[in-house]
Amino acid sequence: MFGNHKHELQRTQQRLALAEAENKRLRAETAKLQKRIHKHDTKLERTSLRLKAMAKAVREMVIMLDDELHVQYATSQARQFFGKTGKDTPTLLEFSDSRELVQLVQDALAEQRALVDMDWQIQLGDTPYQVRVVTFAQGVAVALKDVSDIQRLGRARREFVGNISHELRTPITTIGLIVDGMLAQQTAPPDVVQGLNNIQAEADLLQHMAQELLDLVQIESGRALFRLIPISLTDLLEKPLMRLQSQSKRKQQRLTISIPGDVLALADPNQLGRAFSNLVQNAIKFTPKEGQINVAAVVTADEITISVKDSGPGIAPSDLDRVFERFFKTDRTRSSGGTGLGLAIAKHVIVEGHGGRIWVESSGNPGEGATFFITLPRSFE
Ligand SMILES: Nc1ncnc2c1ncn2[C@@H]1O[C@H](COP(=O)(O)OP(=O)(O)O)[C@@H](O)[C@H]1O
Ligand SMILES: [Mg+2]
Repeated sequence: MFGNHKHELQRTQQRLALAEAENKRLRAETAKLQKRIHKHDTKLERTSLRLKAMAKAVREMVIMLDDELHVQYATSQARQFFGKTGKDTPTLLEFSDSRELVQLVQDALAEQRALVDMDWQIQLGDTPYQVRVVTFAQGVAVALKDVSDIQRLGRARREFVGNISHELRTPITTIGLIVDGMLAQQTAPPDVVQGLNNIQAEADLLQHMAQELLDLVQIESGRALFRLIPISLTDLLEKPLMRLQSQSKRKQQRLTISIPGDVLALADPNQLGRAFSNLVQNAIKFTPKEGQINVAAVVTADEITISVKDSGPGIAPSDLDRVFERFFKTDRTRSSGGTGLGLAIAKHVIVEGHGGRIWVESSGNPGEGATFFITLPRSFE
């Protein structure tokens, strides 16, 4: 009986000791957890402070939405701009009053992709804004940037370039006319004639550059108009080629032309003539003396493909697409004259103006040359 009691006491003491140990362990654990929570709290607070400062520092307005497009957070710039200072969570439409913006965000959500790399613009009041939309697990982030300054600068640049190139044309034409008059007198000694011819050639080049700048301005401002008419392919290409043959002759190049008759193209003769001229002019410019240039056209059921092949320095594979960018010139031809605009203009004229294609092929080996291609729609009228 007594032995039994003793036994029980021992077991209770053991249990007590165990409970004590467990208690101690739990207290230690709790202290650890509290420490961790505290650490996280501080971290959270720091992150939140950092985000708040960041939102204040950027000029862009930022609006955070859940996936029902309720505003969860908006920077003070955004709240001020839209006149919403309350702490409630309105929908994006209530907040911004812009259906256009809501549509844009909905599109981004539907497609589950960020509209960051694209230049989306909307008008809020009188001000153009660039919109960036980023979707994430808890919703959408929208950033709005005022781009009126950038637009104004762009317009000013276009106007400046347009005015300058326009103003340049008159004096350049006058120089040409004066030289023409002097050349017609036929009394000048040969070295003067040579000099006058050089002035004429340089004036032509200047005229050409001024025209390219004007073309660029028209394209950029969306003012370039294309009037496509059915025109025989030979009529279309003859005039530009006639003008360029003498340039090529001066460099003693062999220029062959193979264009089928009896084919009608659908083209804007002026615009297309200039685009095509640039290809041939480039070929002449970059091909050395006594080189070879072949202009040809082939016709398929609904399309005409015109090719201009030269035996110049060629184009490195990595530059094949880049030559159509504005102001781009390859290292091989960096020292040559020209604005670097001709091919960018030609691309616009062919693709936007005529619904055609333009590309270049080149092995890249110097001396093996390059071949430029353009396609045009046929007309059957
Ligand atoms: N036939 C060609 N052979 C080699 N490079 C060429 C040829 N045509 C164009 N390019 C390259 O593409 C660039 C852009 O051409 P383009 O836009 O006509 O400008 P630009 O003739 O004023 O230099 C040229 O500067 C040259 O580097
Ligand atoms: Mg050119």
